[in-house]
Amino acid sequence: MNRLKTKLGKLELKNPITVASGTFGVENNNFIDFNSLGAIVSKTITKNEKIGNPPPRLYETSNGLLNSIGLQNPGLKGFIENVLPKYATYETPFIVSFSGSTIDEFSEILLELEKYDSISGYEVNVSCPNVENEGIAFGTDPKIVYKLTKQLASQTDKELIIKLTPNVTDIVSIAKAAEDAGANSLALINTLLGMSIDWKSGKSHIRRGIAGYSGPAIKPVAIQNVYRVSSNVKIPILAMGGVSNWKDALEFFYAGANVVAIGTYNFVNPKITIETIDNLNRHFLSRNQNLTEIIGKINGIN
Ligand SMILES: Cc1cc2nc3c(=O)[nH]c(=O)nc-3n(C[C@H](O)[C@H](O)[C@H](O)COP(=O)(O)O)c2cc1C
Repeated sequence: MNRLKTKLGKLELKNPITVASGTFGVENNNFIDFNSLGAIVSKTITKNEKIGNPPPRLYETSNGLLNSIGLQNPGLKGFIENVLPKYATYETPFIVSFSGSTIDEFSEILLELEKYDSISGYEVNVSCPNVENEGIAFGTDPKIVYKLTKQLASQTDKELIIKLTPNVTDIVSIAKAAEDAGANSLALINTLLGMSIDWKSGKSHIRRGIAGYSGPAIKPVAIQNVYRVSSNVKIPILAMGGVSNWKDALEFFYAGANVVAIGTYNFVNPKITIETIDNLNRHFLSRNQNLTEIIGKINGIN
């Protein structure tokens, strides 16, 4: 009996553990069997190739990671020719993360990706600047999120996941806008904004100064966001933010997550996803319980 099966909108997953976009690539198959994962999520791709930001663009803090990679990726064409075929050989659902600088660009990318049956769904990264709206990130404006989601939902029958940024005043209004416009599920959270300065030199540890903050330090922020969003929408949630073991994943399930992604911790332990799946299996077996019985069932006060 499989105690870990779960659903993410249209997708039936054999277990609830996947990887967070940008923290995992085909090279990880040196460490784990991809078919053991619930799903795989690609690094965000854009229409054109991006070489990313100049270094230093990663800095480890005491309990987290600052990154300013700048969406380095081979572009849509490079992805289709060189990356997609490597994932197409696995049975595990493959979700492609993509982003654009205008709604038309998002739409164009989706149109092209729709030609490939090996793709099971899309994670739409809305944490990027909207060139039609003074460079303000798409994901910070409910009206824009609605418009973008509506457009993309009209173009695909595959799983459409909108990935939310936590760097907003009211994440619930953005989540509801995506739901109302036809998103099948939501992913949260993308990185928080962070910065680190060398106390001796007074210089930034990251060339561009402000960076994305991830890893264990952000877990309580992520859980709070997942709890608030899941209490206010009906569509399922793919949660991420600071998960470093199976117990962290359980916290997210109680908060309302249907699936959990591990990101930064893959850099610490490339086998963490598989260890988490094994430990969750043992946990539910020992309790004679199924994962779906605890989703959203936060249980009073400790
Ligand atoms: C090095 C690095 C690169 C990332 N690249 C992307 C990306 O391309 N697209 C995206 O949506 N999120 C990206 N993220 C954010 C993660 O997918 C995830 O939302 C976030 O890091 C929180 O999860 P974690 O604490 O488990 O890492 C990146 C994170 C890191 C650390």
